[in-house]
Amino acid sequence: MLELVWPGKEKSAALCSTPVERSWDTWISASFDSSNQAKFESANHRVIAADNLDALKLLRDSGHRYDVIYIDPPYNTGSALTYNDKNLSGGAASSATWLNSIYPRMILARDVLAETGVFFVSIDDNEACHLLTILREIFGQENHLGTIKWRRKRKPSFLDKHMSSSLEYVLVFARNARLCPRLLGMETEESTRPVLNASNKNVERLIPAGMPAHCPDGKYAPGLYKNRSLGFSLLDPLVVAQGVVSEQARIVGQFRIQQELWTETGFITKNFGLRRRVLESERKRRHAEDDGTAWPTNEDAQAELKLVFGSERVFDFPKPVGLLTELLSMVSHDESRHGPQRCLDFYAGSGSFLIAALEQSRQDAVARSVDLIQSRESVRGNTDHQFSDIAEICAYRVTVDSLRRGFSPSFAFVQLAQ
Ligand SMILES: C[S@@+](CC[C@H](N)C(=O)[O-])C[C@H]1O[C@@H](n2cnc3c(N)ncnc32)[C@H](O)[C@@H]1O
Repeated sequence: MLELVWPGKEKSAALCSTPVERSWDTWISASFDSSNQAKFESANHRVIAADNLDALKLLRDSGHRYDVIYIDPPYNTGSALTYNDKNLSGGAASSATWLNSIYPRMILARDVLAETGVFFVSIDDNEACHLLTILREIFGQENHLGTIKWRRKRKPSFLDKHMSSSLEYVLVFARNARLCPRLLGMETEESTRPVLNASNKNVERLIPAGMPAHCPDGKYAPGLYKNRSLGFSLLDPLVVAQGVVSEQARIVGQFRIQQELWTETGFITKNFGLRRRVLESERKRRHAEDDGTAWPTNEDAQAELKLVFGSERVFDFPKPVGLLTELLSMVSHDESRHGPQRCLDFYAGSGSFLIAALEQSRQDAVARSVDLIQSRESVRGNTDHQFSDIAEICAYRVTVDSLRRGFSPSFAFVQLAQ
């Protein structure tokens, strides 16, 4: 196995096992309406205002396990990092600092991911290579399901020195690829299917009155009919008027479906062949693809925040809800589930992931409960607005945006007791 080594690695990993002497506490912020504050365990969704290291350890130790984890950590764009290792300089020093912060949190992510769970991680070019290497080390290379390429802006920026960078990545890992269901892509476009099959036995079926018929109106005599597909014998005369069968008729053919499904979905084709509609419940989804270049962009994300916060730009790097619903739709299997799908974002920012989960549940009817963790990082720059830290922005956004979109979920807003 390949291993990435940097100064501080072992020390940072050890942070996962230092005990947490704190417990959950109700977090009430005066700056937004918290009237829908619910208890920690009974709420649908929880917003946790805390550093994710301690919060993740508490969640792990209290047995919380998640089916889907999404994170969008700081990308290490080189802004405010200082790392004084005299053996390292420039980019290497800054990467080491970043890795020391991210490494224990990735170990904890694995620990709180359910055996069948999936982990999505957004990242850009700065640290993608390091992050991929440590995730393969922590999760095992066989559990790296793929890397989605996502276009963050529609137009390239020519401010970049050598090459314009407009793509980011979403690294996708399973806790255990052997147990994790296939990730789902778009629906197949197949809307009709044949009903006869050469290896089936000949059986008699009824063509019921009222069945759609796209062949020319008229009277079709009993006999053997054969077009490009398999043949069948019509036993009674068949009358088609105004695009439907007028009276029932018997037919013999190598049917692959039962009478009930044939009655519900069958039709006669233009060339007097037999086919059927594909039911909504039968529509299969293809394998998920790693191409996210046509999904919503960062510009869309800023427009979404504007609808909640007005013209003021309160948060700099939100992800668009549409990117996150695409990811959630890849894991929208529900077959053997008891209770809601448990989702977590432990670098929550403005809380887009929770809004995406609500939207995706409206689409696929899979119930979800979401935990968000966001530190009380103070808001830099423009301090005119009502928020003193990003956790407050997050709590406000999920409260107001969920109501604005017509949802009424119950939230618990919690923090860690001092
Ligand atoms: C890139 S933003 C995430 C944006 C988010 N995906 C959205 O759509 O709004 C990363 C967030 O992680 C938060 N963060 C950074 N370190 C953290 C930590 N140790 N614990 C909790 N949150 C942290 C930052 O304050 C920031 O809000």
